[in-house]
Amino acid sequence: MRILLTGGCGFIGSHTALALLEAGHEPVLLDNFDNSRRSVAGRLAAIAGRPLTVIEGDVRDTALVRAALSDHRIDAVIHFAGLKAVAESVARPLDYYANNVGGLLSLLEAMDAADVRTIVFSSSATVYGEPLCLPIAEDHPTGAINPYGQGKLICETILTDLARAERPWRVSILRYFNPVGAHPSGLIGEEPTGMPNNLMPLVIRAAGGKLDLLSIYGTDYPTADGTAVRDYIHVVDLAEGHVAALEALGRGERFGVYNLGTGQGSSVKQLLAAFNGATGVNVPQAAAPRRPGDVAAIYASTDKAGRELGWKAKRGLNEMCADSWRFAKRNDGAEE
Ligand code: NAD
Ligand code: UFG
Repeated sequence: MRILLTGGCGFIGSHTALALLEAGHEPVLLDNFDNSRRSVAGRLAAIAGRPLTVIEGDVRDTALVRAALSDHRIDAVIHFAGLKAVAESVARPLDYYANNVGGLLSLLEAMDAADVRTIVFSSSATVYGEPLCLPIAEDHPTGAINPYGQGKLICETILTDLARAERPWRVSILRYFNPVGAHPSGLIGEEPTGMPNNLMPLVIRAAGGKLDLLSIYGTDYPTADGTAVRDYIHVVDLAEGHVAALEALGRGERFGVYNLGTGQGSSVKQLLAAFNGATGVNVPQAAAPRRPGDVAAIYASTDKAGRELGWKAKRGLNEMCADSWRFAKRNDGAEE
């Protein structure tokens, strides 16, 4: 299949482009480089052994996207493009709704006009809000607590309605847990253009001396060691999950919602210990108050993705840490 990846030069999109190539598909990348670098195209080409098609543009430019869909004879779209910083979404909700909800609407209009009605959508475990039970399955009630999460829920609603429409679409909604890690080549990884908010990029900064220490947000949670628990998933496993979702749509699936996680919860302290074990680097760290809006523990039930997509995450915490660190070391200085 020929697949358009919006936000294709970002963290998850770039790894998915490689997974698609490996599975025999042809990715076409569209990005406005708001949170990624133009150098990603060259790095992908170096790994793939040939150039990939990269279009510079905004997903909200309906005419440009429509032309890209026709010019490249696209069969399906994976929609990664969007903004993703939770705290920023509270401060600047309009930017988030305009880009994330407005972006999806513009994309869907372009797809409809180009007769391309197959889409895989990047959603988030944030749509579950405070977990009522663990592990969390796809039928857990949803309820977001910030504009970023609200936007993801609105997008999920729009896509659910399209799947039931007169001219039905094929839709796969993927709820990611906590993606970390990098391609084993060390050439592509997570490269936020501004100050990172997520744990692993901050661990990397503290490990490399660019941050004095890693603040552990909350050491009094009702978890085994008092620190918050998340389901960290290697980005290459996550990328392979997209290929599985796309191929299920290709086999005739009309609508699916899937958790993409490992099913395994790890605390902040466990992740720091794994980082130390995998890299030999002891990350300077200090206890800090809880971060507002954080839940104590969340991890996925992965049964549905295993059963219906035939997909399961294979890589563990050590590999996630080792690959993140390799990428950071190879690209030291490039991230500023
Ligand atoms: P990322 O910021 O690395 O990638 C997003 C890409 O989209 C960037 O390259 C950015 O330049 C591009 N982009 C943003 N707005 C655009 C626009 N209007 N037009 C064209 N390109 C645009 O983020 P990521 O981690 O790869 O996340 C991809 C998707 O997955 C996002 O939708 C995000 O909300 C979702 N998600 C991410 C996580 C996570 O922790 N990384 C967790 C759950 C869900
Ligand atoms: N943490 C620290 N110190 C830091 C940064 C994070 O202790 O410097 C802790 C957080 O408190 C949390 C854990 O590390 O307990 C993971 O934090 P992240 O910010 O990496 O991830 P979150 O689980 O908070 O958020 C992620 C995505 C969001 C998404 C959310 C729910 O980044 O986009 O999962 O799916 F909304």
